[in-house]
Amino acid sequence: MAPIDDDRRRGSSRALYAEIRARIADGTYPAGAALPSTRSLAAERGLSRGTVSGVYEQLAADGFIATHPGAASRVCAGAALPARALPADEERADRGAPGEPARRLSAIGRRIAGMALRDPGSPPASEIDFVYGPLSGSDFPTLAWLKALRAVEHQRSRRLAYEDPRGNLDLRRALQGHLSQTRGLSCAVEQLMIVNGSQQALDLCARLLVDPGDVVVVENPGYRMALEAFEAYGARLSCVDVDGHGLRTDQLDRLRPVRLAYVTPTHQFPLGSFLPIARRRALLDWAAGQQAWIIEDDYDSEYRYSVRPEATLLSLDSRACVIHVGTFSKTLSPQLRLGYMVLPPGLVEVFAAAKRLADRHAATGVQRALARLLADGSYDRHVRRMRRLQQARQRALVDALTRHLGARVKIEGAASGLHLVAWFPALPASAEPALVEASRERGVGVHPIGPLFHPGDRTAAPRRPAGLVMGYALLEPEVIERGVSRLAAALTSVQERSSIERRG
Ligand SMILES: Cc1ncc(COP(=O)(O)O)c(C=O)c1O
Repeated sequence: MAPIDDDRRRGSSRALYAEIRARIADGTYPAGAALPSTRSLAAERGLSRGTVSGVYEQLAADGFIATHPGAASRVCAGAALPARALPADEERADRGAPGEPARRLSAIGRRIAGMALRDPGSPPASEIDFVYGPLSGSDFPTLAWLKALRAVEHQRSRRLAYEDPRGNLDLRRALQGHLSQTRGLSCAVEQLMIVNGSQQALDLCARLLVDPGDVVVVENPGYRMALEAFEAYGARLSCVDVDGHGLRTDQLDRLRPVRLAYVTPTHQFPLGSFLPIARRRALLDWAAGQQAWIIEDDYDSEYRYSVRPEATLLSLDSRACVIHVGTFSKTLSPQLRLGYMVLPPGLVEVFAAAKRLADRHAATGVQRALARLLADGSYDRHVRRMRRLQQARQRALVDALTRHLGARVKIEGAASGLHLVAWFPALPASAEPALVEASRERGVGVHPIGPLFHPGDRTAAPRRPAGLVMGYALLEPEVIERGVSRLAAALTSVQERSSIERRG
């Protein structure tokens, strides 16, 4: 974990990361160029060698450079951005491009421009892709959805007016019943707000609850889209470690004052643990002492395969500090952009006002169609079917990994969700890019866990083995089997190469 005292060290490693990344982007370091040794760069910048090595590890994990033991680290092919790339760093964004009149970005704009440069973008899709996030188009409940849309269109009102920014009342009523039944949640319809996916909920929370410089606690490793939303608005992130039981609440006491904590207690992303009741209470007590808000991201609780989902943090919250966030991106489609928030009563008015300013409200037609699916039972039937399908895929993946890799793989977080983490104990974290590349050559897309560790907190990287976040929602069991057998071949080739390098 990085306590607040370490912010300066994190700040310098983040600045160095951004600087090297910008030099790769603008071609100062072209593909194949050797970076300075960690020793000379550390001496030149007055940083510790560990800090520079951590930055290099991060750049390697993000696919910008390749590191080789005993040899110079080199820039990977294709790491530079095209000529029309965004400004290379916050300062350049502030000045505008050379020769152009200065077009000033706001402080938030400059931070977002800097963050865009850090993002290596999605790799091209492979023939077999163990990506986490997308769902299969063939799993979508097309008939039920079309029927609901048609019914909604037939009842279209004569007056097409703007609606309540909190969302369509029929949907909020149906959702209230659904959450009570499936999550044991009791809340008033007034506390529910429909948003354009959980991402909008996180963006609104960052805008309305966090001032620049405020400390926000996040899980490490964690969900990058959340971290980036808070960073964009100037939050200082304090990363708290995650173990087999979720967030290490014993690390919270050293952190204060904290404005907000973002957690995934029912299914930690990406490691998959659920937070036991004692830690839930400790988190709530700590937040009460800090007068901090907690965002509970309940993104995929529909997919618990053996046991029912835990009680929510919200249902244990007696001090109205929990903001519960959910999404339909995991059961219906991430393209619908439909999610919801359960807000503490005291926040309802300001969130509704901010939502109105952002986009008035979510699209009415899809909200009403979803309300019908929830009310007539077809959504519940669809979720039961999805759970069966995803569990079959998850079993196929666990089974194939165990058969093809045996002791070479350690599986974590397979009890629920749409992904698991595969660790390769014999391979160091720095070999993740090589494993990704060797798999890609065999037509298999795999996705390293490295980028989900916070860039300023890379101290764990040298100690941890290589790991992959493996999604299975897109793949049928027989395809999973083929993909894993090719991944096993890729792993063998990377292990052989790295043992030759060690001996040489
Ligand atoms: C941790 C987490 N939260 C939320 C989401 C869903 O985001 P959205 O509702 O914006 O599609 C995801 C999707 O991958 C996720 O991994």
